[in-house]
Amino acid sequence: MNAPPVTSSPRLPGVRVLVTGGARGIGGSIAARFAAEGARVAILDRLVEAGTAHAAAIGGTFHEVDLLDPASARAVTEAAIAELGGVDVLVNSAGIFELKPLLEITVEDWNRMFSINARAMLTTMQTVAPHMFDAGGGRIVNLASMAAKKGGANEAHYAASKAAVVALTRAAAMEWGCHGVTANALCPGYVLTEMGAATRTPELVAQWSALSPLGRLGQPEDVAALAVFLATPEAGYLTGQALNVTGGMVTH
Ligand SMILES: NC(=O)c1ccc[n+]([C@@H]2O[C@H](COP(=O)([O-])OP(=O)(O)OC[C@H]3O[C@@H](n4cnc5c(N)ncnc54)[C@H](O)[C@@H]3O)[C@@H](O)[C@H]2O)c1
Repeated sequence: MNAPPVTSSPRLPGVRVLVTGGARGIGGSIAARFAAEGARVAILDRLVEAGTAHAAAIGGTFHEVDLLDPASARAVTEAAIAELGGVDVLVNSAGIFELKPLLEITVEDWNRMFSINARAMLTTMQTVAPHMFDAGGGRIVNLASMAAKKGGANEAHYAASKAAVVALTRAAAMEWGCHGVTANALCPGYVLTEMGAATRTPELVAQWSALSPLGRLGQPEDVAALAVFLATPEAGYLTGQALNVTGGMVTH
């Protein structure tokens, strides 16, 4: 992971941020970028070693959680909010990916994909919402994917779970806007993290890179920059959106 950028005037001093999946990858970069902007960051993840080390490196805190378990997810989220003394921003980045032909996807595969990628977001959003309502507002940023918009061969359960994330985010924007809460989804293209690394050959990287007018794949920092922007005052009138971060691979 690259070092967070040095900013002379932090844009989010004291802002209290929860980042699920913040131990590594896109969530890790988002956590680092928020911290570099002066925010107070709590990382929620199941990777204890990586999460503890990353939280220490960015001056944040780490909370172990398996988001598959709704009761535990709710309790750990409440504990992180109590430790921060409230919550201004929730970033849901935790997710899983799997390549499997449509005909081979089992009900267990489907349920696991939806439990982590979509249902866990429902749980953390339901947990932060009353706190944000009491405070007069907040920001929610959910990691979807370009798969939500364009689908993908051999990833039907992943793509469907990400389409669910977009719909969930839009519903939150509509229901919670009256409380001053904005909710937006980010739809990254191919981002160079450990997710999908096992099947990412140099040939595939070259093929995918050619799909972008910019001629390259995404870096976690490309996504993190937008997540931070969505938490700034400048993004206050932006809600219910599913924003592409694909290097131009998807334009709708
Ligand atoms: N990498 C990409 O190309 C890409 C593209 C589009 C969207 N996304 C989305 O961005 C998000 C982050 O992806 P990434 O590339 O950083 O992946 P990653 O695998 O590097 O990181 C995912 C993080 O989520 C955590 N996590 C997974 N299941 C969990 C659980 N049950 N409980 C707690 N934590 C759990 C992992 O421990 C890990 O730290 C995901 O939602 C992913 O679907 C990624």
